[in-house]
Amino acid sequence: MFYSTLVVSAIAFSGQALAANLTSTSPADVAAARNSALTLSPTSNVKGKVFDRFVTIWLENTDYDKAASDPNLAWLAKQGITLSNYNGVTHPSEPNYVASIGGDNFGMDNDDFNQIPGNVSSIIDLLEDKGIAWSQYQEDMPYSGFEGKAWINQQTKANDYVRKHNPAVIYDANTSADRLAKNKNLTQFYSDLAAKKLPQWIFITPNMTSDGHDTSVTTAGAWTRNFLEPLLDDKHFMKNTLVLVTFDESHTYTLQNQVFSVLLGDAVPKKLVGTTDSQYYNHYSEISTVEANWDLHTLGRWDVGANIFSFVADKTGDENTPWPAASGPNSSHFFNSSFSGPFSDADRVATLPVPNTKLVRNGRKVLGKIARTWGDASLQSQTYYQNTVQIPDGMHPPQGW
Ligand SMILES: *[C@@H]1O[C@H](CO)[C@@H](O)[C@H](O)[C@H]1NC(C)=O
Ligand SMILES: *[C@@H]1O[C@H](CO)[C@@H](O)[C@H](O)[C@H]1NC(C)=O
Ligand SMILES: *[C@@H]1O[C@H](CO)[C@@H](O)[C@H](O)[C@H]1NC(C)=O
Ligand SMILES: *[C@@H]1O[C@H](CO)[C@@H](O)[C@H](O)[C@H]1NC(C)=O
Ligand SMILES: *[C@@H]1O[C@H](CO)[C@@H](O)[C@H](O)[C@H]1NC(C)=O
Ligand SMILES: *[C@@H]1O[C@H](CO)[C@@H](O)[C@H](O)[C@H]1NC(C)=O
Ligand SMILES: *[C@@H]1O[C@H](CO)[C@@H](O)[C@H](O)[C@H]1NC(C)=O
Repeated sequence: MFYSTLVVSAIAFSGQALAANLTSTSPADVAAARNSALTLSPTSNVKGKVFDRFVTIWLENTDYDKAASDPNLAWLAKQGITLSNYNGVTHPSEPNYVASIGGDNFGMDNDDFNQIPGNVSSIIDLLEDKGIAWSQYQEDMPYSGFEGKAWINQQTKANDYVRKHNPAVIYDANTSADRLAKNKNLTQFYSDLAAKKLPQWIFITPNMTSDGHDTSVTTAGAWTRNFLEPLLDDKHFMKNTLVLVTFDESHTYTLQNQVFSVLLGDAVPKKLVGTTDSQYYNHYSEISTVEANWDLHTLGRWDVGANIFSFVADKTGDENTPWPAASGPNSSHFFNSSFSGPFSDADRVATLPVPNTKLVRNGRKVLGKIARTWGDASLQSQTYYQNTVQIPDGMHPPQGW
């Protein structure tokens, strides 16, 4: 098993880490840190109920209709299932990335250098609990485990890597050397692919040109098709693999925060290729779907009640709930702003939202570590999370918050 290697490497790494400044963005510090950076490529083979590998690729800031009419994204949609009612949870970018692995945006309303304390768990804790290997691949991150705010192309000075699009590093991933070593760049994706050492859970962030942030959906669509088309036929990538291509948020803040998303890969049943799934989903569905597939524990946050991609839910025996029409997103829920929380710039609230350690969905309970940290009755009386699809937004803050 890879655990024994991890322990040895982590010890070797902690000695070197003392010398390197992992947040510095000066070229000299980056060059020095690169020399001592550790990269790990753990693998695992934990059978899922519906898929054995989950890969998500995040693109930037585009309204649904504009993305759906991009020819390359439309081509990709024909190879899989279009999710026609998938939504971001707020604006701007960073809280959406944070939400997609942690089950809340914690009131974040900015793209700052945020650090979420180590006692707030993310999907990474749930995966590690079941021995499921994971990695993030961030295009043009200058070295594995870099924690700086940004890295620019050294020749053109154009934006390349940004921390605000790297969810794992925002969750104090820095406190553990072996987690940092699984925050890699896209060069490492290709070497892991060639070495047949891709993990089972993968988050991919293209650089600021490739993801459309500094360019357009035309560039993002072309990049994504160019990246994925060969992989759709790659035996080492396709191992009962489910790929989700999505966007962090819409571009127009006054519209419902609906984004274009597609499910692809050899885990998609043939009869569903080219179809549309119009169930209500959001970034928390990325967590709930993975939880249902591998029978993971939960975070006790908005992950618990989030809809699970329908074809997966059908096989795991999970029930989904449409967003109730009377209070539906199109009446007043736009998911276009954050409620006040510990990471708000406006009206910051000092306390961290307490996960609801009693929630159970289809037999899945909150992770033991979370229950031990947050299960105290005095804390539980403050929790705002319920087993519901209806998440809060800026115009509908959590009850009692
Ligand atoms: C690391 O680099 C950052 C950014 O340049 C700087 O603010 C910080 O003081 C440095 N830390 C150490 C321990 O040198
Ligand atoms: C809201 O309206 C848009 C545009 O008509 C539609 O695509 C979307 O599915 C609707 N959302 C819900 C939850 O009904
Ligand atoms: C979680 O960590 C934060 C920051 O260190 C601390 O203020 C808070 O009391 C901790 N909460 C619990 C329940 O451990
Ligand atoms: C990617 O990360 C590796 C490992 O830390 C590093 O050696 C390499 O220079 C990085 N590549 C790019 C394009 O930054
Ligand atoms: C971003 O990635 C693309 C290839 O995916 C590359 O051509 C480009 O040079 C990278 N960086 C910038 C700043 O464009
Ligand atoms: C890592 O996280 C801890 C806890 O938040 C923080 O004190 C420390 O400065 C961080 N280290 C780096 C190198 O960012
Ligand atoms: C959210 O959308 C509604 C409806 O268009 C609009 O009234 C409101 O100002 C928007 N909020 C933000 C923060 O843009």
